[in-house]
Amino acid sequence: MKITKICCIGAGYVGGPTMAVIAQKCPHIQVTVVDLNEQRIKLWNDPDVNNIPIYEPGLSEVVAEARGRNLFFSTDVDKAIDEAEMIFISVNTPTKTYGSGKGLAADLKYIELCARQIARVSKTNKIVVEKSTLPVRTAEAIKSILHNTGNGVKFQILSNPEFLAEGTAVEDLFHPDRVLIGGETNAEGEQAIQALVEVYANWVPKDKILTTNVWSSELSKLVANAFLAQRVSSINAISELCEKTGANVNEVAKAIGMDSRIGPKFLKASVGFGGSCFQKDILNLVYIAKSYGLHEVADYWEQVIIMNDHQKNRFAKNIVTTLYNTVADKQITFLGWAFKKDTNDTRESAAIYVADNLLFEQANIVVFDPKVSYAQILSDLTYLGSRTEAENKEHITVASDPYEACKGAHAIALLTEWDEFKTYDWERIYAQMNKPAFVFDGRNLLDKALLTRIGFKYQAIGS
Ligand code: UDX
Ligand code: ADP
Repeated sequence: MKITKICCIGAGYVGGPTMAVIAQKCPHIQVTVVDLNEQRIKLWNDPDVNNIPIYEPGLSEVVAEARGRNLFFSTDVDKAIDEAEMIFISVNTPTKTYGSGKGLAADLKYIELCARQIARVSKTNKIVVEKSTLPVRTAEAIKSILHNTGNGVKFQILSNPEFLAEGTAVEDLFHPDRVLIGGETNAEGEQAIQALVEVYANWVPKDKILTTNVWSSELSKLVANAFLAQRVSSINAISELCEKTGANVNEVAKAIGMDSRIGPKFLKASVGFGGSCFQKDILNLVYIAKSYGLHEVADYWEQVIIMNDHQKNRFAKNIVTTLYNTVADKQITFLGWAFKKDTNDTRESAAIYVADNLLFEQANIVVFDPKVSYAQILSDLTYLGSRTEAENKEHITVASDPYEACKGAHAIALLTEWDEFKTYDWERIYAQMNKPAFVFDGRNLLDKALLTRIGFKYQAIGS
């Protein structure tokens, strides 16, 4: 089966970049990305390609090449479903905030709505591909909805988890470590798997395209993220020990990372991991383990989250303690709000939780992030529910210039590892701050020797 038309439901951080790259690499396939969010689609179609709603290095170039040729963004979901032979589901699956599984399980209501819409609209056979991160056995649920339409249309469901990391999404899509495709282990399933293999084979070497059964594919995604997050929590646990013992976590990370069995990646101590996947996927894993009565397994993985929460809280607490046990009415400047550099995504960013802690202590926070808007920052904080938006507004503001942001500050907290922070004129920043001028480097990004020489009281993680 040769695919000529693809539809992708969800024009977010996963659907947008993935479809842009598929369209660029497969000019013979028409790719339509649809979303209910009209504003988002409007921005994807903005004549100035720099205004697309997602910031990712290299993405606007890819969109510029393919858009209007074989890449389209639309709000007409039904039409795109109807025309496509293959439909990707890339909608958001946040952690449930209500009912059973609250705070742990993934909320599948958006997925279910998609499945029902596909069932209602389809007049010809379709391959449905789960792209969103999903709990194991979601394909079963989708299948059950699709197979009970009674209109004779046949559906094959594939799991094709996304492994791209934000900030390097385009590079990750161009040169993936692997592409994973799970499907049913019968002739039709095999055919559907091959159809998707052929799409990726336009640019990915075949030996990097793995095919498995659906459940292995679904579980592999959760486990990959759990392992990555576990490495970050492991090194963060050691960072606290380093601070007490006089060891330096960067040196420890380098020393252990040179062991080829351990490897050097994902050993960077930080203020804590964020992003839309790590916490959600581990919570999912914990929920699944609990639901099978595997309490030791659940507790083991839950500890990765507990450690991460501890790391964010102790970073905030240390700021308060160091500033003579009070930050009330003091100005703390945040450099960075995004959950990592090179993205405008703020979901689960450590900055949100550090800010929340400091706002409880009545600090005044000024934020500078090269890509994140004030509206986003307010919405992140208000979503936590600790105080009203009006109260948040009173104590947190943004500056459009880093020097403005740091003027009059008692302390700077560096929360995101944006490269540009390294290149600032730190003498100038020092001159305009309250003294003693503190820097809490939550990413071990800045040059300690330089900052100390200038006069800053500099503290990093794990040393
Ligand atoms: C992750 C996975 O890497 C990706 O494969 C999956 O598809 C989605 O989830 P992402 O969340 O976009 O990607 O970014 P990632 O680079 O994994 O970083 C996650 C968080 O961990 C960030 O907050 C980052 O700053 C933090 N981190 C990462 C560390 O604190 N230290 C490290 O050494 C690595
Ligand atoms: P992710 O990081 O998984 O891509 P995002 O929140 O960035 O998550 O993107 C998911 C997108 O899916 C959002 O833009 C949302 O509007 C869209 N969406 C959710 N449900 C539907 C639906 N039923 N039909 C179309 N789009 C949907």
